[in-house]
Amino acid sequence: MEHEIAVDKRAMIVTRADTHGVIEYANHDFCEVSGYNVNEVVGKPHNFIRHPDMPAVIFKLMWQRIKNGQDIFAVVKNRAKNGNFYWVTTKFSIRRHAFEKHIIGFIAYRQKADPTIVQEISKLYVDLLAIEKEVGIEASEKYLHGFLDAMGHTYDSYVEKLALQGEVSKGFFAKMVSLFN
Ligand SMILES: Cc1cc2nc3c(=O)[nH]c(=O)nc-3n(C[C@H](O)[C@H](O)[C@H](O)COP(=O)(O)O)c2cc1C
Repeated sequence: MEHEIAVDKRAMIVTRADTHGVIEYANHDFCEVSGYNVNEVVGKPHNFIRHPDMPAVIFKLMWQRIKNGQDIFAVVKNRAKNGNFYWVTTKFSIRRHAFEKHIIGFIAYRQKADPTIVQEISKLYVDLLAIEKEVGIEASEKYLHGFLDAMGHTYDSYVEKLALQGEVSKGFFAKMVSLFN
């Protein structure tokens, strides 16, 4: 049985990659959470930390964005060295050549994902993965866009909405507790 790793809220899990996603650097928090040491990960493509529950369409969207020089606020389930998993929200920074300005790589900054986000988005990921297995990635892409369009959201604004709900409900909870104390 795999278990969820308790990621510290303050942890900032960082990796730097070339334009193909090959890891060039990983920070202390990455090593701590994933269980790998730097030497084991540098030179490897990022997909060795991919968890099989992750739908391919999310990575397709991610690559489309970052290759275009745009950020994405992505929710990702990763697999650690010991087989356990952790959920993170990931933001990217685009590394550009100092003079010619073309993209030379990417840096991913990950933080523990709010349980409210995970609870909702994992349902969407289950559906996307099932569609991918049954029909293929084109179908899961259509489903994803249909799902988001129906709510008037982009992928990022959907994730942000879920994050806010978490904060609002926590704020509400804190208010209720203070009323009864
Ligand atoms: C900077 C950067 C960070 C990435 N971080 C992750 C990550 O944390 N987890 C992950 O599964 N893929 C990550 N990826 C995407 C992988 O490169 C890959 O596309 C993904 O794991 C899907 O694997 P596949 O393309 O072999 O299907 C990252 C890519 C880049 C460029």
